[in-house]
Amino acid sequence: MPESALAGVVAEVGVAKPDAVIVADGVRRTFGGLVAVDVDHLEIQRGVITSLIGPNGAGKTTLFNCLTRFDRAQAGKWSFDGVALERKLAYQVPRHGLVRTFQLTRTMERLTVEENLLLAAPGNPGERILGAFLPPLWRSFERARMDAVDAQLERFRLDHMRNERAGALSGGQRKLLGMARALMTGPKAILLDEPMAGVNPALRQTLSEHILELRDDGLTVVLIEHDMDVVMNISDWVVCMAQGSVIAEGRPGDILADEAVVDAYLGARHGESATPDAEAEARVVEGPGVTDVSAPTSAQDPDSDSDSDRRTGPGAEDGDE
Ligand SMILES: Nc1ncnc2c1ncn2[C@@H]1O[C@H](COP(=O)(O)OP(=O)(O)OP(=O)(O)O)[C@@H](O)[C@H]1O
Ligand SMILES: [Mg+2]
Repeated sequence: MPESALAGVVAEVGVAKPDAVIVADGVRRTFGGLVAVDVDHLEIQRGVITSLIGPNGAGKTTLFNCLTRFDRAQAGKWSFDGVALERKLAYQVPRHGLVRTFQLTRTMERLTVEENLLLAAPGNPGERILGAFLPPLWRSFERARMDAVDAQLERFRLDHMRNERAGALSGGQRKLLGMARALMTGPKAILLDEPMAGVNPALRQTLSEHILELRDDGLTVVLIEHDMDVVMNISDWVVCMAQGSVIAEGRPGDILADEAVVDAYLGARHGESATPDAEAEARVVEGPGVTDVSAPTSAQDPDSDSDSDRRTGPGAEDGDE
């Protein structure tokens, strides 16, 4: 059971995890005078679902961008599964088993669902000059790649959309395709940036089940999410950021009761509270329509294309490669 992997770990910022797959130290990213990310020490436990929460502008996406090298941190060291990543290029990171999805779904609209998946798989040996002279090599590669496409289409129940253009998919189906694309590289960990944003409640449930299934298959999942029902229901561990820094981490129950989290995030849009923990809990358990504590941003429009996604780093065209 994943929860037991974290048994005995105290709810404390920067706490060591028994089997950390991501270890980050001193990660700092500023934009002019604005400190977007300033994370002292953060460890992500392998094989569990860790949610990253915090108010709009807290630095959650920027942290994902830095860790996966889509943006350049000005300082810091971090590793994934023992491999230092801070000098890798964005396209090299998935080779080490770490992939991410984007807050704005990045699909290639004019290509079919199947083509989107095929392009997300790592390089075909036949595309290299020497490999092109070795048909058996690329034929077996193509077979394996098509098997992987079939597996992802089946997993996300997108088989019937295989030959549809990605542009014809609903916002929710694009979220599924984004996850499927990320999984084509056979990662060990997946960073999901607001997979539920703009998705209807029924599909949120389906997405939650997919995320739990990924964990049960042994993947490490880090999830940026504003829907506190989802966060509370599926997370094994929760990390809260505010103004670039981690202000709390712990089990979902610890986080609900954490005064700093209520002050910076949970309570922020609902007024001050004398008993923050009880009220926060009540909101999450009972409050239909009030559990998404994010401010609406254009970034949450599931149908907008990827082009406006803030990104300054390398690897501009295709996020998942
Ligand atoms: N490319 C950029 N140029 C300038 N400022 C940026 C850039 N990217 C992010 N920022 C700023 O850095 C801060 C952190 O932004 P970030 O997108 O990481 O927040 P977030 O926690 O993901 O917020 P949200 O929940 O709204 O997605 C914000 O103040 C944001 O305006
Ligand atoms: Mg964000």
